[in-house]
Formats: sequence, C-alpha cells, structure tokens
Amino acid sequence: MDERLKKQVDASRLDRRSFLRLAGLGGLVISTGGIAYLRNRNGLFNRTAQEFEPLDPRDPSNFNQPLLLPSDRGLLGIMEPSSPLTITARPIVQELLPGKPATVWAYEVIDGGKTFRNPILRVPKGGTIQALLKNGLREETIIHWHGLRIDTENDGHPHSAIPAGGTYSYKFNLINRAAPYWYHPHPHGRTAGQVYFGLTSFLIVEDEEEKELTRALDLELGTTDIPLLLQDRQFSADGSLFYFPRRNDFFMGVLGDVMLVNNTVKPFLDVSSRVYRFRILNGSNSRNYRLAFLKGSERMPFYIIGNDGGLVDKPYPATEVTISVAERLDLLLDLRNALIGDTIFLKSLGVDLTAMAKSMGEMHSSDLGSEQEFYVLKLNVKNRLNYDKVIPSRLSDIVPIDIRGVDTRRFTLANSSSTQWTINGLKFQMDEYPVIVNRRSVEIWEVNNIPASMPHPMHLHGYQFQVLERMNSPKQVRNQAVDERGLIPTDKGWKDTVLVWPGETVRFAIDFSNNFPGDQIYLFHCHILEHEDGGMMINYKVV
Ligand code: C2O
Ligand code: CU
Ligand code: CU
Repeated sequence: MDERLKKQVDASRLDRRSFLRLAGLGGLVISTGGIAYLRNRNGLFNRTAQEFEPLDPRDPSNFNQPLLLPSDRGLLGIMEPSSPLTITARPIVQELLPGKPATVWAYEVIDGGKTFRNPILRVPKGGTIQALLKNGLREETIIHWHGLRIDTENDGHPHSAIPAGGTYSYKFNLINRAAPYWYHPHPHGRTAGQVYFGLTSFLIVEDEEEKELTRALDLELGTTDIPLLLQDRQFSADGSLFYFPRRNDFFMGVLGDVMLVNNTVKPFLDVSSRVYRFRILNGSNSRNYRLAFLKGSERMPFYIIGNDGGLVDKPYPATEVTISVAERLDLLLDLRNALIGDTIFLKSLGVDLTAMAKSMGEMHSSDLGSEQEFYVLKLNVKNRLNYDKVIPSRLSDIVPIDIRGVDTRRFTLANSSSTQWTINGLKFQMDEYPVIVNRRSVEIWEVNNIPASMPHPMHLHGYQFQVLERMNSPKQVRNQAVDERGLIPTDKGWKDTVLVWPGETVRFAIDFSNNFPGDQIYLFHCHILEHEDGGMMINYKVV
C-alpha cells in the first residue's frame, strides 16, 4: 500500500481497546451517522476477557451448545408457504448468548397458529410467493430475494425501500432451478446493520432433480440435510450485538470474534454414521471462511455438490473449500466409517487475504482476523447405523451458455481513496445506470481486481451466471483448480456471487433474456456489506 494511503488509514484508526478506553471515560457521545440503533442499552460496548473466553471460537472445548436445527416453527423454522404471507421485520428478544436475552431483529411470520422467525421458506420450482412485508423497524427497509430471477418490482432494489411502518407487496413465480437462495434487507446504506442485527434466512427451491438426490441419500431437511447459516458477530457483555462501523470498517469490512451457526454460539451437533448434507450460507458481513472437516489433526474428505445456483454437474471431492460472503455451498460428509465417540470439527482454516488486506490486517477492530483459524461446529458421533446409500456420480446437466461471438464488458475493482471502493471508478448512485444491456443478449463480464486490494465477493442481481475462467489467481485459488481454465469446484454450475481475489481476473457469462414487461433495473455489487453500503455497487438496466 502506498505510504500516504497507509498514513491516512492509520490516522483514521481507532482500535477497539482505545475505543473502549474512550468509551470508559463515560462522557463520549457517539455520532453514529444516523445508525442510532447501535447504542445498546448499557450505553456502549463493554466486555472483559473473562466474558469473552467462554465464547472464543478458537477454543474447541467451548463447543457445548446444541446447534439450532430448523424445526416446523420458531427461529429458522421450515415453512412451506401456500397462502399469502405477512412478513414483519421487527425487533424481538433472543438469547444469542446463553442467559443473556437481548434485542435482535427478525422477520416474523405467523402461520397456522405458529410463529416463525426468519423462516426457511421451502418452495417448489414453479411455485408462487406472495408476501406482504411490514416494516416494524424504526428505519426504512426492503427484502431482497438473493439469487432469484425476478423482475425489478419484486427484487427488492434499494429504490423500493419502505419507511418505518410501511408495507410492500411481493408476488412472483419461482422460475429458478432448485438451490439454496436466501433473503435479506437491501435499503441503501443500511443493509449491513440490518443483516448484522439478524434479518437473514434461506429460501430453498426444490425440483425433481433435487428430490432424486434426497431420495438416493435418504436425506431429510432439518435433520440430515442441514442448513447452516454462518455469521461472525461481536457482542457486548449484556448479550446484545455490537455493531459500530467506523470509517475504516467501511473500507475493511466488519469482522466479529464470536461465531454464530444458525444463531447458536459454540454449537455442537450429535450425528450418526451416515451421509450428511450441509447447505451452508455465508451470512456474515465481511468474513470469508476456508472450511475443512477435521478429525483430530486429520482432514476428512467431503464432496462439494452444489453452490449458489444449485447442484453442480458431479460431486467434487475436496478437503477444503472457501466460501465468501453471500455464497452458498452444498456439501456431503460421509460419516459411515465414523465410530461412536468420534469428534469431528468443522473448522475455518484462516484465509490468506494477500496484498493490501494483509498489510491492513492489523486494522480490523476484531481480535479474530481473517488469517486466524477457529472452530465453527463440533460433530459428536453418537450412533452406528446401517447406511448403504450410494453417492451418485452425476448430479445434474449444466448446459453451457452459448458464448460464441458475444461481447465482453470489463469491470475494474479498485479504491478511489483510503475509504472508498469502486467499480470502474464509480460509487453507487441510486438513479444512475452506468450499464445498459439488451435483453436479447448474452455477455461476458470480465472483472479485474487490482493487486493492492482485498478479495471482493461480486454479486449480480436478476440472473445466475456461469464462470468461464480465472486468470492471475493467487496460489491458494490455483491450488484448488479443477480444470485448465482455473475454475475451482464452487465455480461450476450456476452462480450469483463470485469471489475475485487481489490481482485476479474472473470472466463469467450471463444470458440476459427475460420475459418481464418493460425495462428491468438490477444491481451488481460487492457483497461485503460494508462495501455495498459504502457504495461499491452499480445499477444496471436490462432494456
Ligand atoms: Cu444478497 Cu444485492 O444482495
Ligand atoms: Cu442479490
Ligand atoms: Cu468488496
């Protein structure tokens, strides 16, 4: 990083400890730039080392809370919406830290006498979702259906945001193939905080191909086919979430130091000797995970079977996989040789951010930097079963988008100052459309991240795309490549979010055809939520 930039950044840095010291002086008035909900009830972040140690994800002996498994109600309950839904975004009280109930935000749905919070919506391909969003927060919001092929009116673009007390109606058909999609807020400048405070869940679309796999492996959603929502958070001593992004955090992204999986801290799961499917959503604000299953110090092989846009062509054997913000991963873990008493950890191995991020690593206000290793979930083998199912060798046919003779559009990811990330030098403007594409066209988008940068998970609204090629990838990406174009297993199939590393160029193909009446407005943005809120986002219009 150039010296001048480094100085600027250093000057803007207020590390957590000095922040705490200042806060401890008592008289500090926080100007939150309008993010008023950050002031927690006890005033400010206050937590001692003794309070943190039992939550520290680096300590495997901490993992003593049963993982929340989605049931038919409550938090992350599985819901098959048949009639119109009313989804209320509102504060609720939730015990994220054991014994410390605190206010979080959730999407609440009441259906058939049951109350769901952040329901996992399970819908067949071709089905319809009809929903009324009620804004029970004290600020504007809107739901975005991440990964779905829907028109602008239903997409939840920030221009659709509704004020506190407002409502918004959605009605759309699920034309996408089966995959773990998800939904989250998207009001401009407020997305990061709203997701941090809890507004996120899955939308699982199913089709025949998907059901075939479920039958072949005897899987059941919620018990052996387990959605895992990964989020890192910081907490205050009173159990409330602590989110206080400062200028520098908008540049580096906010990292937590406590791991939540399905809203459970330090979780464990009792398992049997059979195949498990994990559908992982990285719902973190900015953390990438490099995941592996470990038995002692030995890595267990697993299979990557799907990603953002559903099943890939075939299972890819792996011993590690990186999942960036907003990506989804569909994995099979074969535990049929496991013995009662075995313990297996899902662990994050630490991500080598390279380049600038490394030199800036010190600047994070989290004690748990990206490069650190920590545990995510503990699996305790409790039962031996006779399980004789066979993992299919083919999963799906991915028909390549026809790219003969199509145009390439180029994007450069860079920064225009020590706090501003940009796409082609642009910062988000609600009413500007720097990219216009024709709805009868296929295009190749070539995204280049400058070398002095950090990895940016780039996300496209409106369409799933196909990754064609990775160029100048860093070693840790090249090592995972499964073909001569530099693709890694999670690039196969259909994607809506792709991580572009410093110095790397990623090419992907998009077929912009659609049947929606009129022009459609969508977004292309970095899904590090602080980057998105900071304006690393552009509109594009399909005409
Ligand atoms: Cu998941 Cu525009 O976002
Ligand atoms: Cu999206
Ligand atoms: Cu970014």
